Formats: sequence, structure tokens, C-alpha cells
Amino acid sequence: MEIKVTKVEQSKLGSVDFDNLQFGRTFSDHMFVAEFENGEWKNFQIKPYSNFSISPASAALHYGQTIFEGLKAYRNKAEEVVLFRPEYNCQRLNDSAARMCMASIPEEIFMEGLRQLLKIDQEWVPRKPGSSLYIRPFMFADEEFLGVKPSSKYKFVIITSPASTYYAGAVKVKVEKKYVRAAEGGVGMAKNGGNYAASLYPAKLAQDQGFHQLVWTDSKTHEYIEEAGTMNIMAVINNVIITPSIEKLTVLKGKTRDTVLTLARAWGLSVEERPIRVEELKNAHENGTLEEVFGVGTAATVAPISLISIDDVSYDVPHLQEGLFSQKVAQYLTDLRLGLVEDENNWMQKA
Ligand code: COI
Repeated sequence: MEIKVTKVEQSKLGSVDFDNLQFGRTFSDHMFVAEFENGEWKNFQIKPYSNFSISPASAALHYGQTIFEGLKAYRNKAEEVVLFRPEYNCQRLNDSAARMCMASIPEEIFMEGLRQLLKIDQEWVPRKPGSSLYIRPFMFADEEFLGVKPSSKYKFVIITSPASTYYAGAVKVKVEKKYVRAAEGGVGMAKNGGNYAASLYPAKLAQDQGFHQLVWTDSKTHEYIEEAGTMNIMAVINNVIITPSIEKLTVLKGKTRDTVLTLARAWGLSVEERPIRVEELKNAHENGTLEEVFGVGTAATVAPISLISIDDVSYDVPHLQEGLFSQKVAQYLTDLRLGLVEDENNWMQKA
């Protein structure tokens, strides 16, 4: 595939304060764009990051036919730019695309567009420990048509944004029992825009009460936890790492989730992917077996949860003492990205 490259006349790099990066506020100089029309992807371009035009009748604007991904590029100790399991994101984007009746993107286009973009914007990958270049691939309907049907035209775009972690410290969450994120048979497994739009109101109510995020519960009974705001959720009870199963397709198939579970199993720890009752967390807290609770996600990385509110009662969760599994796995992932430990699973690759 051939990518037409148009570079910026003047880079914005010099104006970026890499010591004070806010998630999602700063964008690198270039972006990758591809167009889908008449059943094929074409017009591959890397061009200056800028606004683009979209038909006012696009189904993305009216009916939410839009999906996205999130991954990161890191700088390892040899100063190389490295990616972590990027094919996982391409696969998940295509799973989302299938559910939202959108075009599938061949891995070659995803990977080649990403690699060439990173090559041109390599200086945007932060050097500061804990920071990385957040990569946001996304696809949206681009046909001029107001009828409710799958669009025949799409744009696939990759933008990148230097960022530090999403949450600055431990996270306080509220178990949500009124509003839902996803119902069985719905689109919970897809990374489509509407899932996030629908979360804003309940999340705002929780934020107004002093919480950072919600923990969603199942739509039928509100008795089982599903995932937390922008991340999957895990708990350690009695030395067993437990996390909600994904088979009902209401929970996002997180890459960090999969990574953490794979590592835990390889380290000989007990792991259970199964439904988790809210009551189980409460009981474990009461009988002293709730060892930790944490969120895992690309943007959030491994985020310790310090407090869970259930039915307006707040439960403090251990999160500071040394030796917690979440700290160990977070440290391992940091070391892996820096190239300080052996990459036994072949997860890292040069950009
Ligand atoms: C990510 O972790 O990349 C996400 O997609 C979360 C994002 C909505 C901030």
C-alpha cells in the first residue's frame, strides 16, 4: 500500500510542556487517514493533524456509527519506540466494526499506517517515565445519507497524543445500581462512541458525589459487577484474582485485562473469570479477605481502587501497602515496556 505523506511546515513540538501532560489535550503533528468507498480502502495519507470535513448527514453524527481504539507507544531504555500488542487493538476494532455493521480494516493498513505515522512523529513519544504516546485509531460513517442503514463510506483515522496516566492516584468508585452501561445482546463489547456517551450522565452524578468513576452492574439484577468506567475491574479475595467474565459480551475485552490475567496465570496465581456479586465484595470486606481491587485499561494502566461505595456505604480498600499484586503487575509492565525484563510472550515490538 502506498501512503501519500504531507508534512507540517512547522512542528508544534517545541511548544509542548512534556512535564505537565494532561490526558487527551495535546496532539502530535500528523495523522493517518484512509477512506472506504465502493467496497475498498483507498487514499492512504499521512498529513498535518487538522480538522476534516464530514457530511452533516453522516450516520456517525446522527446514529453513532463510530468506533475507536486506544493503545500506546513507549520509549524503551535503548531509546527505541515500541508498541505493546498492537494487533490486539486491530482485532478488537474489527470486532467492534462487525457489531456496528461497519467496514473491516485489514491489519496491514492498520499497522502500516500506524508505523509510518510513528516514524514521522517519533519525537512525540515522551521520554519521561510514566508518560507515553497515546494512540487513538478510530473509524466513522462518512456517507451522505439520513436513512437508518449501515453507511457505505467510512474514514479510518489514527491520531496520537503524548500523555501521562489517566488517573493521577488511587481511584474512588461507586457501584451503580440504577443506570446501566450494557445489556445482554447489546453493544457492550464494542468500543463504539455511544457506550461512552451513555455513561456520561451517571458518571457525572457520581463525580458530583466525589467519586472518580462508576462500577457498572448487570442490567437485569444489578447484583453483579461488570466494569469500571474506562477500565476493566479486578479484585483479589483470599489470594485469588477474580474478574468479571466477558462471555456475555457486556464487558469490554480489554487488552490490559487479558495481559494481566495471562501474567497472573504464568506466575502460578489463582485466577477466576466469572460473575462477581456485589455482595461478595461487601462480604469479603467485612470478613477481611478483600485484599485489593483495581482497574486495568490502556489509558488507566493499572489503577488501584481505594474506596468502593455500595448502596451509599463506603468501603475502604487496601491499596498502599507493599507487595500487592496490582503493584507487582504494574511494575512488570513498566519494566517490560522499558525493555528491562525478558519479553517472554513477544508482546513488545519496535514501531
Ligand atoms: C483506553 O483505555 O484506551 C480507553 O479507551 C479509555 C478511554 C475512553 C479514555
